[in-house]
Amino acid sequence: MKKIIKNGKIVTAADTYQADILIEDGKIKAIGNDLSDVYAEVIDATGQYVFPGGIDPHTHMDMSFGGTTTKDNFETGTIAAAHGGTTTIIDFCLTEKGNTLKSALDKWHEKSNERSVIDYGFHLQIVEASENVLKEIPSVIEEEGVTSFKVFMAYKNVFQADDETLFQTLATARDNGGLVMVHAENGDVIEHLTKEALKQGNTDPIYHALTRPPELEGEATGRAAKLTALADAQLYVVHVTCKEAVDQIADARSKGFRVFGETCPQYLVLDQSYMEKENFEGAKYVWSPPLRDKSNQDVLWNALKSGQLQTIGSDHCSFDFIGQKDLGKDDFTKIPNGGPFVEDRFSVLFSEGVKKGRISLNQFVDMISTQAAKLFGLFPQKGTIAPGSDADIVLFDPDAERYISAETHHMAVDYNALEGMKVTGEPVSVLSRGEYVIKDKQFVGKPGMGNFLKRSTFNKAIQKESVVTK
Ligand code: URP
Ligand code: ZN
Ligand code: ZN
Repeated sequence: MKKIIKNGKIVTAADTYQADILIEDGKIKAIGNDLSDVYAEVIDATGQYVFPGGIDPHTHMDMSFGGTTTKDNFETGTIAAAHGGTTTIIDFCLTEKGNTLKSALDKWHEKSNERSVIDYGFHLQIVEASENVLKEIPSVIEEEGVTSFKVFMAYKNVFQADDETLFQTLATARDNGGLVMVHAENGDVIEHLTKEALKQGNTDPIYHALTRPPELEGEATGRAAKLTALADAQLYVVHVTCKEAVDQIADARSKGFRVFGETCPQYLVLDQSYMEKENFEGAKYVWSPPLRDKSNQDVLWNALKSGQLQTIGSDHCSFDFIGQKDLGKDDFTKIPNGGPFVEDRFSVLFSEGVKKGRISLNQFVDMISTQAAKLFGLFPQKGTIAPGSDADIVLFDPDAERYISAETHHMAVDYNALEGMKVTGEPVSVLSRGEYVIKDKQFVGKPGMGNFLKRSTFNKAIQKESVVTK
């Protein structure tokens, strides 16, 4: 059905203005003043911001990791995402050595098909650069629409790939227009420090942070950036947490290299001291890279504001405190790594960023939606409010106040790492391709209404747009 959104303030990465939006067949048909159509449902957005739907470029739904499986699957996780103002996720598809990339994608399609309530795409993990894998990359890009590839530089003996794999992935991605993503921590040295800690009987959650110091994130980020420069490729560093890593990204960018970075709400508002909570509560804050000293929060805000970092991902990877995190009760290395943030990413950035004067309203939209669309080949279908774009729209009350809590959140997990935090600003209604997913804060969508997104390549995106390099 056609819809007209009236009386709201439209906010994009570039503009803020009052106008009506006509939606037809899932697309934005027109933007203008006093639009009317007798067949259209009129939505009154008085007092609300009208944002493009959030794009979360970093989620882990229904993923086996650390001896267990994430609590949120594509249904529960995307319902929570939608409540929070996110209308697109890009999830990490894991691969296995010796198997084809296509078989991994088939598995991820099985997990998500008929479950997701919002549109979604996949990044693909590269764990080995065998001849077969490298040969398959072009068809994955062209036929499957999966155009970004993730290499883990940490999690030794689990996901970690070596530098040769990273370099070959960069070179292959360059030749085919893809974007390589890295989890940048030095996994070999972490492995050594971890063994030493356990030998000394240091088993509490805080040792997760102490065995993964920021120097090892800085070192891996710098190494990945230098290999990217050597390969003349493009790199996206996921979940950047600290000055050591930001400096490496800024240095590479100042030399003109195509290096981009993401941070996450948890690193902007929480710090390492949470991991020292008593009664094993510190385990609720165990993810990688770990939380850092509080001084890094300003570094990250400044890097976002100045454009050294481009995006906000949630790194949503949810495990219950009871029954999952407690696998590591006697040994921090057995605590499944990850935290639940897909629902609160959007509001936390608005509240802590815009409301507290750290970033502008338009920068908020850029970070929460537009830059991810551009980098990952979805723009202008997604990431903006413009004629022809998908009608993925968030009607947002900028003054609503609430306290984040596991009692009220929609994620399947039994705790919220931001419990008790006051946020100002809340999505009221959320449309995905013109259909309500959330109406007046209630979920009204259906599992399976989300579509898989075949994405364009990074190279095509930069030819079209003056994107990404600010
Ligand atoms: O601890 C985390 N971040 N878990 C998810 C996997 C990853 O490293 O992104
Ligand atoms: Zn990671
Ligand atoms: Zn992750």
